[in-house]
Amino acid sequence: MHRLTERAPAKINLTLRVLGRRADGFHDLVSLVAFAGAGDLLHLVPGAPLGLDLTGPTALAAGPAGDNLVLRAAAGFAALVPQARLGAFVLEKRLPVAAGLGGGSADAAAALRLLARLNDLPADDPRLFAVAQDVGSDVPACLDPRARIMRGRGEVLSAPLRIAPLACVLVNCGAAVPTAPVFRGLGLPPGARLAGPDHPDGLPPDADGVLAAIRAVPNDLEPPALTIAPAIGTAKALLAGGPEAQLVRMSGSGATVFALTADCRAAAALARRVKAAEPSWWVKPTMLR
Ligand code: C5P
Repeated sequence: MHRLTERAPAKINLTLRVLGRRADGFHDLVSLVAFAGAGDLLHLVPGAPLGLDLTGPTALAAGPAGDNLVLRAAAGFAALVPQARLGAFVLEKRLPVAAGLGGGSADAAAALRLLARLNDLPADDPRLFAVAQDVGSDVPACLDPRARIMRGRGEVLSAPLRIAPLACVLVNCGAAVPTAPVFRGLGLPPGARLAGPDHPDGLPPDADGVLAAIRAVPNDLEPPALTIAPAIGTAKALLAGGPEAQLVRMSGSGATVFALTADCRAAAALARRVKAAEPSWWVKPTMLR
């Protein structure tokens, strides 16, 4: 049997509000997530012994294969699906790591989709969701990568939202920012509730309305992330300095920032400008949906 392939698109938090901290230590969120054309690629060679090879420009940064969420997802799948057919994974790693793009989560979700295909399970088999939840907070949203409102720690997902594709530029300054210290930087004790912050449940259908709705809601993780990686501020300022940028914000817990632009030509022009100023940075014009 030929190898199977799934794309693992980057997740972008267009908005992210922290509502409080749960008794289990995780933070309660509401976030509008969308998915990029840019991403990793995951292949599965059916029948070969379970394993993972990493290739691609950011493979080295991804750390040892044995610790990868792809293998964690495969182990979780094998534990829930009797006599599961497995195989050898090859991950073409292109996204920056510890970057707020949910790269590792996207890879784990792609692994679950590949194993579902190999084992003739429907895409909505509840065991996939159960494993996804266990592997990481962003993995459930990445299982079916379409724009949604994500709540809880990521396990409560709205139906997919119809948004007009958004042109954007993703910029990562090279600082790896682990998620936990950013959340810790908020300084909330378990059980804390924040008064006020909420989030619209849907989105206006037109592009201008979507932009205004996104602009009205910040990413609450920006202040603690900026303390850990001040270069996030430099990257935001560089993007905001381009006439093409309509909105500039950080994704997830950082350090990747994005600028929304009117169309993909504007995104390409802005990307060229940032790359010229900071040749060592990861700069990617892409579409979100
Ligand atoms: O679920 P995930 O492994 O991605 O989370 C990494 C860490 O980020 C958690 O151990 C926790 O410290 C923090 N986190 C959080 N609240 C969330 C998601 C993550 O506090 N909603």
